[in-house]
Amino acid sequence: MKCVLITGASSGIGQQLAIDYAGAGWHVIACGRDRDKLQQALADSPIGDFRVFDTTDTQACETALAGDSEHIDLAILNAGTCEYIDNVRRFDATMFSRIINTNVLGTANCLAPLLRRMVRGSRIAIVSSSVTFLPLTRAEAYGASKAALDYLCRSLAIDCANQGLEFTLIRPGFVDTPLTERNDFAMPGRVDAATASNAIRRGLAQGKREICFPRLFTLILRIFSRLPMNLWHCLAVRMVRKVKTREAANG
Ligand SMILES: NC(=O)c1ccc[n+]([C@@H]2O[C@H](COP(=O)([O-])OP(=O)(O)OC[C@H]3O[C@@H](n4cnc5c(N)ncnc54)[C@H](OP(=O)(O)O)[C@@H]3O)[C@@H](O)[C@H]2O)c1
Repeated sequence: MKCVLITGASSGIGQQLAIDYAGAGWHVIACGRDRDKLQQALADSPIGDFRVFDTTDTQACETALAGDSEHIDLAILNAGTCEYIDNVRRFDATMFSRIINTNVLGTANCLAPLLRRMVRGSRIAIVSSSVTFLPLTRAEAYGASKAALDYLCRSLAIDCANQGLEFTLIRPGFVDTPLTERNDFAMPGRVDAATASNAIRRGLAQGKREICFPRLFTLILRIFSRLPMNLWHCLAVRMVRKVKTREAANG
């Protein structure tokens, strides 16, 4: 039986992945930081094992992820969070550090024990975001954290290639989850968690190094990302100005 370990399995994309992999007969190690929430979220699925730890706690990650010899075929490092910056002139360094801590250092804390124990033929997938195609308004903290994951994942893929350990970078567009419920702006191309899980599982089964979805939305971002940086800068500034003018007009 194949074994998948998923962080952030108590909600959203991670929860759906855990349900779908368990439904497909995989042994699922579902990780979260709140045992009740995790068990409730996956109550109807045959989950093999629950691991409860906060990914920002280095020692807790070591204890939870290094302590057994179970073979892991696939680890999906998905736990993450998002906050936007409303007023950059009141830059909140504490919030910035919170996002970096969860998204970047939390992922590194999980990687450390997994890199020691995972063997040839297994795969580590890191959930980044399509936000990294382009610098976007208000996404200074979230975008910076996910850009760090992009680099980390691609760099690890090079250094682990000779040991037969594979890496996949996952870059979703907008997905309907508790994380995006809080968003107060239009989310073009938004898909539900089931669609996201299908795209991720299909891409992983095909051994892709990068999984971007939904296809049209991420293709448009990719095209814009090829523009000269000055041109994108002017377009983005103009879009922000338009939105602010509309907001001011609406009181
Ligand atoms: N939704 C989107 O549109 C979208 C787009 C691009 C990328 N992503 C990425 O996809 C991943 C999953 O997001 P989602 O939309 O499914 O969000 P979500 O529903 O809020 O789920 C986030 C998961 O991460 C867990 N988590 C957060 N901080 C943690 C910590 N310190 N330790 C352990 N677990 C922690 C949460 O646990 P609790 O339940 O305990 O809070 C939850 O299980 C994130 O990395 C996110 O950045 C999402």
